[in-house]
Amino acid sequence: MTMTTDAAAAQGEAAGKPVWSSQLGFILAAAGSAVGLGNIWKFPYMTGENGGGAFVLVYLGCIALVGIPALMTEMLVGRRGGHSPIQSVRDVVAEARAPRAWGWIGIISTLAAFLTLAFYSVVAGWAMPFVGHSIAGFDAADPEAVQALFPNLLAAPDQLLMWHTVFMVMTIFISARGINRGIEAAVKVMMPTLVLILMLLIGYSAVMNMDSLRQAVVFLFRPNFGALTTESTLSALGHAFFTLSLASGSMLAYGSYLSKSTPIVRTAVTVAAVDTAVALMAGLAIFPLVFQYGMEPAAGPGLVFATLPLAFAQMPGGDILGPVFFILLVIAAWTSSLSMIESVVEWLQEKGIGRTASAILAGGAAWALGILCLLSLNVMSGFAPLSFIPALEDKGMMDALDYIVTNVLMPLGALALAIFVGYIMPKDALRDELSTSARAFGIVRGMIRTITPIGILVIFLTNLI
Ligand code: PHE
Repeated sequence: MTMTTDAAAAQGEAAGKPVWSSQLGFILAAAGSAVGLGNIWKFPYMTGENGGGAFVLVYLGCIALVGIPALMTEMLVGRRGGHSPIQSVRDVVAEARAPRAWGWIGIISTLAAFLTLAFYSVVAGWAMPFVGHSIAGFDAADPEAVQALFPNLLAAPDQLLMWHTVFMVMTIFISARGINRGIEAAVKVMMPTLVLILMLLIGYSAVMNMDSLRQAVVFLFRPNFGALTTESTLSALGHAFFTLSLASGSMLAYGSYLSKSTPIVRTAVTVAAVDTAVALMAGLAIFPLVFQYGMEPAAGPGLVFATLPLAFAQMPGGDILGPVFFILLVIAAWTSSLSMIESVVEWLQEKGIGRTASAILAGGAAWALGILCLLSLNVMSGFAPLSFIPALEDKGMMDALDYIVTNVLMPLGALALAIFVGYIMPKDALRDELSTSARAFGIVRGMIRTITPIGILVIFLTNLI
């Protein structure tokens, strides 16, 4: 029987389980999850710190060889289970008659999503006051004051708390409205807006500073292998994971609302392509400004919060482009936080709690943990809560969480899932979910069995050692 996707959505809703109303709806939601602070804040500064082109090339390779197959495993397990990440993994493990211990993958992923939400909301909160600062205008005559805005913000717990709270409430609000009326409706507006803003910023450089744009293109695309270290190769791989929202419940949860007719292979490639395109566009938007105003591309995490405002202060039209840029950052973070909260919300709903209450509960708990993170930036800066673990000896709450999630939970969850899907899940079930040509199936399965787990294992071990 053929059914329009809307009818499928309506039927799913009637059965109590929402379904994305169209393939585009899912692609926008998943791309919204993937495109986030990772693309607009982290990718440019990592590229800057790691010398540009060669790093970008390695990153692209990691996305294609490790990221995309891993993304497919999450989407297909989520869809096959059709429940929260915790339950879906259990179901698929039961179907495969595999030992129940594999079920830990769902728990680890959900935990990673929850912990990420706590500190992600704090960082997203940094962008919000900068919308206001840039509307008021950065004072070109006083560069020191402009550069002090960011460290001053980090030193002010009351400010951080206020913006963290605003951001979490925004996340809870959309999440409470559900998959179709909340997330899907939001990403349909926010994702096109985000791309338009990026094009506006790149267009500005094309018109105003063509030379710097050219310089940025060279910086991003001419590989200079001399600048590549083992460490930068590893961070490219780690970042490929983070930016595709892997091993954090998000794609498992979003996959559970995916209609059976959506082709997983093609959809995963599209989502990864959008994510990569946005990261490169962010580089093309930011680096021309950095070069035009003679700033340091390797400025680190302060690149967009301390360096870029100096450019906005000096450039013609900076009082318009500045706010637009920081709004972009907030939108990107918002569509990502919606996916982090989803794995927990879906699980709470399965426990019989209503959607709104689940969103408030999940968001509220992450908010409370986020407070510890933001205090670790200032009043509690000397306090290392997990100092009994050697790797976390001198790390405050925020750094410790970031470390545990990106270096331990995410690689562990993704590795286990790749092994499970590649070696334990019955081949027929996998074929049924991927429903692609025999050749493509062979290639994808081969990657899931070899290069994906090996890639993850390499980041995992080297990060720990
Ligand atoms: N992919 C998001 C980004 O690049 C971060 C993210 C991680 C989102 C984990 C969801 C889950 O910012």
